[in-house]
Amino acid sequence: MNQHPIGVFDSGYGGLTVLKTFIDKLPGYDYLYLGDNARAPYGTRSFDTVYRYTLECVKWLFGQGCPLVILACNTASAKALRTIQQKDLPLLQPGNRVLGVIRPTTEVMGAFTKTQQVGLLATTGTVQSGSYLLEMEKFFPQVKVYQEACPMWVPLVENNEYENEGADYFVKKNIDNLLAQCGSIDTVLLACTHYPLLAKKIRQYLPEHIQLLTQGEIVAGSLADYLSRHPEMEKRCSKNGSRHFYTTDSVEDFDAHATLFFGKPIQSEHVSMG
Ligand code: DGL
Repeated sequence: MNQHPIGVFDSGYGGLTVLKTFIDKLPGYDYLYLGDNARAPYGTRSFDTVYRYTLECVKWLFGQGCPLVILACNTASAKALRTIQQKDLPLLQPGNRVLGVIRPTTEVMGAFTKTQQVGLLATTGTVQSGSYLLEMEKFFPQVKVYQEACPMWVPLVENNEYENEGADYFVKKNIDNLLAQCGSIDTVLLACTHYPLLAKKIRQYLPEHIQLLTQGEIVAGSLADYLSRHPEMEKRCSKNGSRHFYTTDSVEDFDAHATLFFGKPIQSEHVSMG
């Protein structure tokens, strides 16, 4: 069988929340997911480290036959995507494409706000990169973005504590910090693929009039649009409805966690990086 799946990459489990929306919207394609769990979290790592790790994973996905790779991780999109697109791709596989999640999100984000004041909850790496501010400036220069780094949220999710009382403290603290920056924020984006699992608690501490955006549907809509605008790439992506999952860490651990993120059981395989 000729397999040219769409590659979906994340530092760990988070990207599974994005893959789920891809499959809901575009079920016919083959998908190959890679979670770099052995080296996660990426959110607190330097630019150079996130770039090196992400590039290695993208090369591996290309080696598996993926013509198109989606970095379903905000941190990797913020710290590695541009260099990979501009410097590495032309040398590696000029016909292949690597896309991220920040641009498709900022392309539509401004349309959700009436007050033109938007809040962003993300990893330290994504916040420090300033990528959302730069992209929003391009598409919606009138919108002001307020950011809050939530370094404890990914560990809470990864350690299965996201529904417990301990999580309330950090969720409340970061939301309070964000809202203290501006009283008229009317839209808050969860700019980390792990955070949808905390959405129930986040909603609890966010005033009712503030709308909460998650990225999955936005990014899936953007992928559908990309494929319809690039028929040459669309033709290269194979369509047998297959899904394969790889992790750089323990498959038992990945499969146990994955149900939470993906909504159904997964059987992953192991691959080593580095
Ligand atoms: N899933 C990553 C993101 O969307 C964060 C997880 C990590 O820190 O590795 O930003």
